[in-house]
Amino acid sequence: MEIKITHNPNPAPKPADESSLGFGRIFTDHMFQMEWDRGSGWHDAQVVPFENLTIHPASTVLHYGLEIFEGMKAYRTAQGQVQLFRPMENALRMNRSALRMSLPEIPPEFMVKVIDTLVSVDRDWVPHGFGTSLYIRPFMFGDDAKLGLHTVDHVRFLVIASPSGSYYAEGINPVKIIIEDEDVRAVRGGTGYAKCGGNYAASQRAGERAEAKGYSQVLWLDGVERRYVEEVGAMNIMFKIAGKVVTPALNGSILPGITRMSILELLRDGGFPVEERRVSVDELVAAARDGTLEEAWGCGTAAVVSPVGRLAYKGEEFIIHNEKIGSLTQALYDRLTGIQWGQLDDPFGWIHPVC
Ligand code: PLP
Ligand code: COI
Repeated sequence: MEIKITHNPNPAPKPADESSLGFGRIFTDHMFQMEWDRGSGWHDAQVVPFENLTIHPASTVLHYGLEIFEGMKAYRTAQGQVQLFRPMENALRMNRSALRMSLPEIPPEFMVKVIDTLVSVDRDWVPHGFGTSLYIRPFMFGDDAKLGLHTVDHVRFLVIASPSGSYYAEGINPVKIIIEDEDVRAVRGGTGYAKCGGNYAASQRAGERAEAKGYSQVLWLDGVERRYVEEVGAMNIMFKIAGKVVTPALNGSILPGITRMSILELLRDGGFPVEERRVSVDELVAAARDGTLEEAWGCGTAAVVSPVGRLAYKGEEFIIHNEKIGSLTQALYDRLTGIQWGQLDDPFGWIHPVC
């Protein structure tokens, strides 16, 4: 399918101060859109000037939350090259989310072509500083103008992009996380492994409570026994316990993070002991108490590698690594970001040059 491009006749000024970009607040001059109809499939693929959407008030997404999304970044190297990190993995995960939500798949090569095209058109919006990037948000939603609960016949897919800096106000400094023991995010058989808006809607209340108490995000426990650690609001979680990296195994209710997968590959490639398994909150609390919880960090596209300095559970607070970034966390941050921003070699073939 060809992608039609209509350039924005009124481009906006680029942000002058890249140090205060924050996350996802400013948008580029263009967006991608295409539509799907049962019968004719995907059609009208085009890059158009960024604008508000017109949506029918009965649209499926507004009532039944039928929506999935992805998150990825374009990085500018010191030489000016713009590149993506493992975009095919995002395309494949988008399709797994689509299958779970009964939304149509997109040929993954085409989705990567769409991202390449949008990033090329908006290349001047990719910020320059190390640690800044163009955050790319592909999303898809059911758009039938009918209130009956039924299979959707009309779907829209869009991609928007936002020059961004650090996701957390703390930057690379340790964040505070609270273990949530009331609400649950997902259960096996549910939608936890899919990147669908509904998972984040269900997380909102606990997130707000956490913020009110001074924590950045919540660490979710499994939805059945409320005993095993799953993931954080917008990132996967890893611990260094007694010299080994331990992370919750993918069990269907955790989002299979591309950063998680890449860090595990980096660790295994370096011969570091790694365990993907169930991690109980009791084990974690015991390790925090006896000092074997050496480091903890979250990982995700937006969050990158984010050290956890404080962990709260049932009114008790545990300080990890004196609230300083640990040496393994720092090494992983340096290696991953070094590859992403083109400062280090990429022996894994993760980098996808765009323009
Ligand atoms: N878990 C959740 C709930 C997320 O929202 C994210 C962010 O995308 C992740 C984990 C990390 O996934 P990735 O590394 O693919 O960005
Ligand atoms: C990402 O890291 O890309 C995410 O989707 C996290 C988002 C909820 C801010």
